[in-house]
Amino acid sequence: MENFVQTNKLILLGKLTASLVHEIRNPLSAIKLNLDYMSMAQDDLPEDIREIVGESLDAFEQVNFLIEDILDFTRRPTTKLHQVNLDSITDRCLKIISVSARLKGLTIEKEIETDLPLLNVNKNKLMQIFLNLLNNAVEASSEKGKVIIRAYSRNDQDCKNAIWEVQDFGSGIKDEDKEKILGDYYTTKTQGHGIGLSVCKMLTDELKSELTFSSLVGQGSTFTVRFKENCIITQG
Ligand SMILES: Nc1ncnc2c1ncn2[C@@H]1O[C@H](COP(=O)(O)OP(=O)(O)O)[C@@H](O)[C@H]1O
Ligand SMILES: [Mg+2]
Repeated sequence: MENFVQTNKLILLGKLTASLVHEIRNPLSAIKLNLDYMSMAQDDLPEDIREIVGESLDAFEQVNFLIEDILDFTRRPTTKLHQVNLDSITDRCLKIISVSARLKGLTIEKEIETDLPLLNVNKNKLMQIFLNLLNNAVEASSEKGKVIIRAYSRNDQDCKNAIWEVQDFGSGIKDEDKEKILGDYYTTKTQGHGIGLSVCKMLTDELKSELTFSSLVGQGSTFTVRFKENCIITQG
């Protein structure tokens, strides 16, 4: 579990770094333009200022290299793809989550359709999505509650979709919280980090998949991931 929280933080850090570096580029180009302008007029500048402009341009190049490096790294498609069976990946997640589920005396039911298509996705990222959703379902449930995991396929406008969802019968989500929970750092838990769902949103976006939920206070919630054609390995 430690490891899994740590992974959430690293994923979010990657996203923050990329956007920070992106934001730094604009003011940096303004500085570069001004320096270029000064260096064009260098014949009119006193010797010491000319040197300062030259040094500033060198320093700019160094920062620029660094930024390109970081952007390259965050952009790089390091993600390996695997052929993933939804049933077995669910079992692997269940093993990890089983300790906290057992402590609460929860029953976890699995309704996985046979003949589900295989997915072509990175299995670690997929597990990170499922573990975050399962973890939230366990945390929202009351003692001796029940959690149901479903996986099934549906045709949507002639495209095959694979759907994975987790339903709990726990606290539910207040209407006013619904628009906030997918954002960064939003938590209603004293020990929460508020990054699990934003990581799920980021990873499902990366897969061009859909993350949706429905919830009623006092009755529970269902979080659904819909994998579209781009993630699905079509047979034959
Ligand atoms: N299954 C669920 N049932 C009720 N509330 C939920 C559920 N999943 C998420 N939430 C709400 O969304 C918030 C954000 O969840 P998350 O991003 O995973 O962060 P954390 O679990 O650390 O609070 C939670 O604090 C909780 O209010
Ligand atoms: Mg969480």
